[in-house]
Amino acid sequence: MRIAHTIDELAPHTGGVLIPTMGALHPGHLLLVEAARKYADEHSGIPVVVSVFVNPTQFNEQLDFDTYPKRLDQDARACANAGATCVFAPSVPTMYPTDDPVPVPPLPQVASSPMLEDHHRPGHFPGVCQVCKRLFDLCKPSATIFGEKDWQQLSCIRAMCAQLDLPIDVIGHPTIREPDGVAMSSRNLNLTTAQRKQAVGIVRGLIEAGQHANPADAERAGRDTAESHGVRMEYLAVRDASTLLAPKPDEPARVLAAGRLGDVRLIDNAPWPNFSLDAPDAHLE
Ligand code: PAF
Repeated sequence: MRIAHTIDELAPHTGGVLIPTMGALHPGHLLLVEAARKYADEHSGIPVVVSVFVNPTQFNEQLDFDTYPKRLDQDARACANAGATCVFAPSVPTMYPTDDPVPVPPLPQVASSPMLEDHHRPGHFPGVCQVCKRLFDLCKPSATIFGEKDWQQLSCIRAMCAQLDLPIDVIGHPTIREPDGVAMSSRNLNLTTAQRKQAVGIVRGLIEAGQHANPADAERAGRDTAESHGVRMEYLAVRDASTLLAPKPDEPARVLAAGRLGDVRLIDNAPWPNFSLDAPDAHLE
């Protein structure tokens, strides 16, 4: 397995499956790499590229950017073991050359109006779409895999690829959870032991929301449950699974949540109603 820092070093590994990450990889990421390896083997052994780049343009809080965990050597070893062909770890000037500014693509509706992450993290999705379009231009993937934990992000990437007519198969991978149900996230590393215990409040909020057939009741009960564990909730909302607008009868819906423990912001989501950690789509480790 190669580590490419430049566009020239990346060149022999283009045209395969791309897993965009910001590093500090956890077992959930590595399952995405394994899924990519399987996909690649079924598609004539195309390359599997994991990008590791902490993208400055998608952070709306300097502290979050500064404290984002970084450990490239460890990440590269883990990617090699999981079947990656190449880790692409570019510098900021490689990604954003000052003499050739990288545009922000036109934002899809799911990035700008559902009043979820878009509302609480202004500028986040313009940065995500910008960096992903740049990664797609450089890596030229035929497929890309994103975790479903960032449901709105996955929806944005799907919509952006459709809008720009990019020939990329965008694959969502189910959220991987710790044994207590907490969604795996690089940010979990920044929780204290006490906060890590409280973090279970978010997934318990999603489960509680799934017990109520009326969206408003579900949101109230889900939020109360999460807050009873000490999580400061930003939102817990039942939405149409595709548009992320108000749910429609007989269309798939999702409950999406974001909350804070100290300075750490966590997000999660689940099918709605009737989400339980015993269900096959709960994906516990
Ligand atoms: O989900 C992430 O880790 C990031 O938002 C992504 C997709 C790698 C873009 O920087």
